[in-house]
Amino acid sequence: MSYEVTIEPTGDVIEVEEGQTILDAALRQGVWLPFACGHGTCGTCKVQVVDGFADVGEASPFALMDVEREEGKVLACCCKPESDLVIEADIDVDPDFAGHPVEDYQGTVTGITALSPTIRGIRIELDRDMTFQAGQYINLQVPGVTGSRAFSLANPPAARREIELHVRKVEGGAATSWLHEELKVGDRLSLSGPYGQFFVRKSDEGGAIFIAGGSGLSSPQSMILDLLAEGDQRPLYLFQGARNVAELYNRELFERLAAEHDHFHYIPALNAPLPEDDWQGFTGFVHEAVADYFEQRCGGNKAYLCGPPPMIDAAITTLMQSRLFERDIHMERFFTAA
Ligand code: FES
Repeated sequence: MSYEVTIEPTGDVIEVEEGQTILDAALRQGVWLPFACGHGTCGTCKVQVVDGFADVGEASPFALMDVEREEGKVLACCCKPESDLVIEADIDVDPDFAGHPVEDYQGTVTGITALSPTIRGIRIELDRDMTFQAGQYINLQVPGVTGSRAFSLANPPAARREIELHVRKVEGGAATSWLHEELKVGDRLSLSGPYGQFFVRKSDEGGAIFIAGGSGLSSPQSMILDLLAEGDQRPLYLFQGARNVAELYNRELFERLAAEHDHFHYIPALNAPLPEDDWQGFTGFVHEAVADYFEQRCGGNKAYLCGPPPMIDAAITTLMQSRLFERDIHMERFFTAA
């Protein structure tokens, strides 16, 4: 049994299976609706039911207040139709967004690499190609762990069959501990994707500044490999933040790319280098490296930020003090998967 949901003002019509959420059905049918957390706590996916009946599901009372429920508002990530519906959504689709439909995939682990003491690179060969935009993420099912965990794709979109994830181990985190300690080459995994609105606005003019912290390097890595493979000639700057040399992973890859491409610039920054690191590069936080490099004049560029929330907040402040507007800054706040 399924219901027809009409989304206004676009007039898109989707089929929603009984028990399926509106958001899940929309993304799987290539119809974009705004969302962030995906589980009823942020309120980003709020829509108005104009006609029909629906179960609001597990919406948090903070994300969907009583008065809003009475007005017929629902959260698309939790709401399950109980009849055909007409909903009204605030849809503002970026012209550079491709909107590839979300699908379920199975894959086999083909490689596990210790990228740093705390980050593993995991390669998974999918049973069929996945089409995505550089910067997007997948939701991975980790055996024995309830729910799924989000990981950004580190491979460029041209590598459609074998995906690469960077997984930081979170102390006490069941999913990342399993991925670090139990996962073996040859294991089978289930995942869905692609998700997310973090992608390079290729139609924009000017250079692109990428700022990455920790395993947040994965999305910028995919974006940069994609742009370089396409022969894109805009200036590209990658600022990679880490504590020390051992945590500064994939450094050789980016140093090689910088040597091969005059328009790609790689600026690593260490905030706590060890004496044995013999570090000659920038010492300080990654946002400080940005301010130092551009001498507080970033205007004319676009910025793409991926990392833990404190790094993102500090980088936004630096970029805005360096003459970038909010509309020039795109980000993926990396709430590390536990
Ligand atoms: Fe966060 Fe729906 S996406 S509440």
